[in-house]
Amino acid sequence: MTLLVTGGAGFIGSNFVLDWLAASDEPVVNLDALTYAGNRQNLASLDGDARHVFVQGDICDRDLIDRLLSAHRPRAIVHFAAESHVDRSIHGPGAFMQTNVTGTFTLLEAARGHWGALEGDEKAAFRFHHVSTDEVYGSLGPTDPPFAETHPYEPNSPYSASKAASDHLVRAWHHTYGMPVVTTNCSNNYGPYHFPEKLIPLIIVNALAGKPLPVYGDGQQVRDWLYVKDHCAAIREVLTRGRLGETYNIGGWNEKPNIDIVTTVCALLDELQPDAAGPYARLITYVKDRPGHDRRYAIDARKIERELGWRPAETFDTGIRKTVRWYLDNQPWVQNVLSGGYRDWVTQQYGAEQGA
Ligand code: NAD
Ligand code: DAU
Repeated sequence: MTLLVTGGAGFIGSNFVLDWLAASDEPVVNLDALTYAGNRQNLASLDGDARHVFVQGDICDRDLIDRLLSAHRPRAIVHFAAESHVDRSIHGPGAFMQTNVTGTFTLLEAARGHWGALEGDEKAAFRFHHVSTDEVYGSLGPTDPPFAETHPYEPNSPYSASKAASDHLVRAWHHTYGMPVVTTNCSNNYGPYHFPEKLIPLIIVNALAGKPLPVYGDGQQVRDWLYVKDHCAAIREVLTRGRLGETYNIGGWNEKPNIDIVTTVCALLDELQPDAAGPYARLITYVKDRPGHDRRYAIDARKIERELGWRPAETFDTGIRKTVRWYLDNQPWVQNVLSGGYRDWVTQQYGAEQGA
């Protein structure tokens, strides 16, 4: 038995692979293109571990996927690979269409060929697990009920539109071809190995460097935050026991405005690594808003709890403390990321004066 994981060198994918191999001896073939967001260092603890086979390659490469499927005969594909950053999708949507839409299509077609040739128990057990986002549902007003699985798709950014397209492809491959798929739509993750272009790691890294902490617009946009290892646990449940063709929303029951996230991180840093220059919150800087910025996301995660018994294990207080601690304890990882292409991105996004 083997899993094929795509995007397993990224933030969530690497946490998933590490957690999977900590709990199981089932091997993982990890297909990742190592874009700017893919980092082999996340998987350094698996160096020399025969249960982990890393393959650098593109999910748009049909020949490569066909070769991997026939060589390893995985019993499931867990599909994380994507372009994932909303701001990048606004600057350059092309890569999002290519990887998130064409890449998912290519993977689905290869998987369909592989699954179609299986027989008996092997065929019945095969799964294609598509990892998606709550952003496909659009934006909520302050008093709207949270997103249920039945909420209409109303994506607002090039990123969320590309993820919505991929969700629709997965749905259609089930409906038309009978492909054994499950889809999960999760809220904002945070935790170890989070690339510091996203809000929480960016705030930690900038604060420690004495740089401005950029808050878009009025800072009152609301996100639902989930510790990444809880997301990985939910995926394991859905992969094992999720009903075919179903979608499951995953969330932390933890809605917070961005400014509260930023001040919480600052307060934790004040406690764990005080700065002689004063409280880190002095660095908070309101900057131009993200175009088309979604105001509020909230997840109704009752279906996955009812059907599969999953609930997050971490509260925001415990998860964010672990996360800040991890960044303080893993400065070599941070410095390695900062010395790479990330520098160019920060300059492009926030201007030369805030660049690395
Ligand atoms: P990430 O950007 O950290 O990692 C993406 C990984 O995919 C990287 O390792 C990258 O090298 C790889 N990749 C990109 N293009 C590829 C291609 N063409 N072929 C092969 N590999 C490629 O992303 P993440 O935050 O870990 O998100 C993983 C998945 O979870 C995505 O599908 C994302 O939409 C979804 N998701 C993320 C969040 C979140 O809060 N980060 C929440 C819900 C859902
Ligand atoms: O909701 C799930 C989604 O969460 C995932 O599908 C995406 O892949 C993931 O990147 C994340 O998207 P967001 O756009 O919500 O995450 P980000 O960390 O970029 O931003 C979180 C909030 O913080 C958002 O309202 C924008 C704001 N923000 C972000 C950055 C980078 C700032 O105020 N300042 C910043 O510098």
